[in-house]
Amino acid sequence: MESPKRHLITCALPYANGPLHIGHVAGCFLPSDIYVRFLRSEGKDVLFVCGTDEHGVPITLKARKEGVTPQEIVDHNHKIIADALNTWGIEFDNFSRTTSPVHHHTAKAFFRDLNAAGGFTEQVTEQFYDPEAEQFLADRYISGTCPNCGNENAYGDQCEKCGRTLSPSELIHPKSTLTGTTPIMKETKNWYLPLDRIQEEFLNDWVESKRDIWKSNVFGQCKSWLNEGLKPRAMTRDLDWGVPVPLDGAEGKVMYVWFDAPIGYISATREILPDDWKTWWKDEGTELTHFLGKDNIVFHTLIFPAMLHEHGGYVLPTHVPANEFLNLEGDKLSTSRNHAVWLHEYLEDFPGKEDELRYVLTAIMPETKDSDFTWADYQARVNNELVAILGNWINRVMVLMHKYFNGVVPASAQINSSVLAEADAFRNELRSHLSSFHFRDGQQALMNIARLGNKYLQDEAPWHAIKVEGGEQKVANVLVTSLELIRLFRDASLPFLPRTAERITHMLNDENGFASGHQLREASLLFKRVEDEEIERQREKLRMQAEMNEQHNTASKQHEPLKAEIVYDDFAKIDLRVGTITAAVPVPKADRLLQLTVDMGFETRTVVSGIAEHFDPSALSGQQVVVVCNLAPRKLRGIESNGMILMAENADGKLEFVQPGKVVEPGSGVS
Ligand code: MF3
Ligand code: ZN
Repeated sequence: MESPKRHLITCALPYANGPLHIGHVAGCFLPSDIYVRFLRSEGKDVLFVCGTDEHGVPITLKARKEGVTPQEIVDHNHKIIADALNTWGIEFDNFSRTTSPVHHHTAKAFFRDLNAAGGFTEQVTEQFYDPEAEQFLADRYISGTCPNCGNENAYGDQCEKCGRTLSPSELIHPKSTLTGTTPIMKETKNWYLPLDRIQEEFLNDWVESKRDIWKSNVFGQCKSWLNEGLKPRAMTRDLDWGVPVPLDGAEGKVMYVWFDAPIGYISATREILPDDWKTWWKDEGTELTHFLGKDNIVFHTLIFPAMLHEHGGYVLPTHVPANEFLNLEGDKLSTSRNHAVWLHEYLEDFPGKEDELRYVLTAIMPETKDSDFTWADYQARVNNELVAILGNWINRVMVLMHKYFNGVVPASAQINSSVLAEADAFRNELRSHLSSFHFRDGQQALMNIARLGNKYLQDEAPWHAIKVEGGEQKVANVLVTSLELIRLFRDASLPFLPRTAERITHMLNDENGFASGHQLREASLLFKRVEDEEIERQREKLRMQAEMNEQHNTASKQHEPLKAEIVYDDFAKIDLRVGTITAAVPVPKADRLLQLTVDMGFETRTVVSGIAEHFDPSALSGQQVVVVCNLAPRKLRGIESNGMILMAENADGKLEFVQPGKVVEPGSGVS
């Protein structure tokens, strides 16, 4: 195969509904960045694009829950995500976002062209509709009783209690989460991608042609979808958050988030290369590679290629090196349960340790199966590998150079070319691993260079040789050979450990070459040991996160469903006033009742209240309370009660008076 003229690399756009955790970065951001840095270090022409995925129903739900606009949610998260990736050093050419004007424009043009090319079928179906809110309801906007476990708060797409996937029509007593009303079925027209036809005409053969190119997990997943037979899929939604559908008769509709998001790759290219983006997307010399996690495979191997193919004129992906999932301390990473190590927090807690995280996550990258991040493993890898092998080796060579030669590269040193050839073989191994997306093996090959360097130094033992008559020449040979090994290591490490490579370059001082007489800079340690306390602090943090989540869940479970909506006039009918208790006595033969005398300012009232278990009557005189004054009188145990006292009840049933924050005149109105 002819080698490509240019490499277009994409990393799946993260949803802007929360920050990034180590699962996202190990699955997608890190491998794509390593690959890009590798290609660049090989002198290739590379473009690397990404951005935040800012549409979709979950973002609208989060916004409703927090009482802000979807735009505010995505602005907030885009910044956290972009800043963290930048601090960590992911080398995007553009990190854009799908609410950008260029993206809306690009996605609309794509939709229009695809429609004109006959790429859609139109279909009228019945969908759930909230007549009161006057809008169609996404699955997540419908709740009801789970047919499987009886949970009364199941969503239209899933029951979070038993985990069952649902469709809204399966829910018993479906309710709109917007208004609480029962939704009705209403007809609506949507635009579908006829994946059944596209499978026959294109996808079957095209996917088959990838049999030997794609990883087996990727190819296998695709095949199983194709074997099931693809069905037409709606590419439009009745929703008010997304890219508006640019067709007559589609007012109020937006694109399905999975339609517009991958077009985000094109928009991100177009944003920085307004005149040249077509070369990157349409010229056959481009090799397109999509990095992503396994939950995104169908979208990148079937749906997006189908869109590009039907539209025509675009290159299709060559490689789709999808990863499996990363777990954390034996448990699934979860944004909603806050079981995660957040990238921006790691960078704050471990400043200057960007490469340590890259190293550990590469070592355990879930390339072929799920893997597990633990803080103990993080500590062990940093201390036993980065500190003990790599850092120690380079430090020893530097210290010896300063000790024996004042940091000046001695002239007339002879380089041991067979050791260098061995190191070079590791570097070639590394190249072939990275070309085939084997990042773990690639990093192993890199570390083998450091292991070799360590062993060479240990075997040659210049600290002994220096003591032997005329041993200085040998010491010069060994140390200069070691410096050449370090230079080779440094070049090979660029994709994996970019900050470390920079620090090595600084010490070697070899930006402008490396010849005899060359002066090295001071030795400084590349890595520091991670202490037990630091690890314990991180574990403690995870425990805290779990605990807070637990509390939050209990609080939200006990939250009673809201009563039916009322209008202001309903509320205004209730006459609430403050009174002061002047006397309280138990009601004979009624354990729960107290008879209260309340000074209302304009009159004195008797109120019978079921609070005897909660208060000592002798302590009530002088307390202010809020009384419902216009409640019809009622007889309790023969005593006429005129009004009701407002109480607050906490989770375990304990009652407290609702009171003004400061004492007010008896009779003061409450509104
Ligand atoms: N936002 C999606 C996710 O996090 C990925 C979108 S990838 C793209 O799962 F192709 F649509 F951009
Ligand atoms: Zn259930």
